[in-house]
Amino acid sequence: MAVKSPKTIATINFKGGVGKTTVTWCLGDVVSSFTDSKVLMFDLDAQMSLTQAIALNEGGTMNDKFQKWYESSIEREKTIFDALDKFARPRQHFDFPVGFDFIYQLTEDLHFVPSVEDLYWMELEVFDRDAVKDFIRRLLGKVANSPKLPQYDYILFDCPPSFTLLSYSVLSCCDLILIPVNPDYFASKGTNLILNSLKMRIEPFPLPKIGVFMNKTKTYGNSPTKETSFYMREVAHVCAEASRRQTIDADFFESWIPDRVGVKRAITTGGVPGDLLEPFKELWTEVTGYLS
Ligand SMILES: Nc1ncnc2c1ncn2[C@@H]1O[C@H](COP(=O)(O)OP(=O)(O)O)[C@@H](O)[C@H]1O
Ligand SMILES: [Mg+2]
Repeated sequence: MAVKSPKTIATINFKGGVGKTTVTWCLGDVVSSFTDSKVLMFDLDAQMSLTQAIALNEGGTMNDKFQKWYESSIEREKTIFDALDKFARPRQHFDFPVGFDFIYQLTEDLHFVPSVEDLYWMELEVFDRDAVKDFIRRLLGKVANSPKLPQYDYILFDCPPSFTLLSYSVLSCCDLILIPVNPDYFASKGTNLILNSLKMRIEPFPLPKIGVFMNKTKTYGNSPTKETSFYMREVAHVCAEASRRQTIDADFFESWIPDRVGVKRAITTGGVPGDLLEPFKELWTEVTGYLS
């Protein structure tokens, strides 16, 4: 039987605080809990927000099980940084077997590759852009072929708010670039900027499909406020124009995620709040529809 390759989705925006990390986590949680899918999440941000959130319990104390696993993964040189370090060594075979010393099991169906501080310094080292480009593709090949790991249905990447070597490596091979925006003045300007730079940076490689959606939607009753609706129309227009003028496939999703304070605690308490389940399920339906 042919092996089905997983769909890969990278959450990115050059703006910090728009919800990249929150959305990656909530989608991972919702998809692994409510569909028959196995999900693997990567934290590629050297600021390590997702890793830190997962390492903390609600009270702010360390999650012992994760902490022990994390320390041993660092000690055994099985982190994402070690993988990249091995990959980038010139003229050497990419020798980096992957198993559950590289991947942490959050639940049976939701698995996780944490970030490490070393990624912070990586850009300063002499990694060559083109040498690193194939890193994520090759690493995912190892994950797919490892007899110790399950076949994942979806792989989600939480990307840093900048165009790093690692984001370049992900963006040039993923199936979907997912861009959360917020209802503010930067929504349409920021979307324009990121669509243009994605095109410029990834060329001559084909650009993956791009999906943009509104996060932190201000609501009145059960609908977006007038102001948020205005920003949604503006961003939809930017996506349509970019798709028309350039060879970009950028869609503005109809589903949106409301602004809800409860989402802050979702990662540390281990669950998407009840009132956000439906919005995330709807977003996911649109994502999979767009991907297929
Ligand atoms: N839908 C939402 N409603 C309310 N707060 C949100 C929502 N999405 C994200 N946030 C909050 O916004 C802040 C930034 O989110 P984060 O996911 O860390 O953004 P990024 O990864 O883009 O920097 C966090 O405090 C997070 O809890
Ligand atoms: Mg983040």
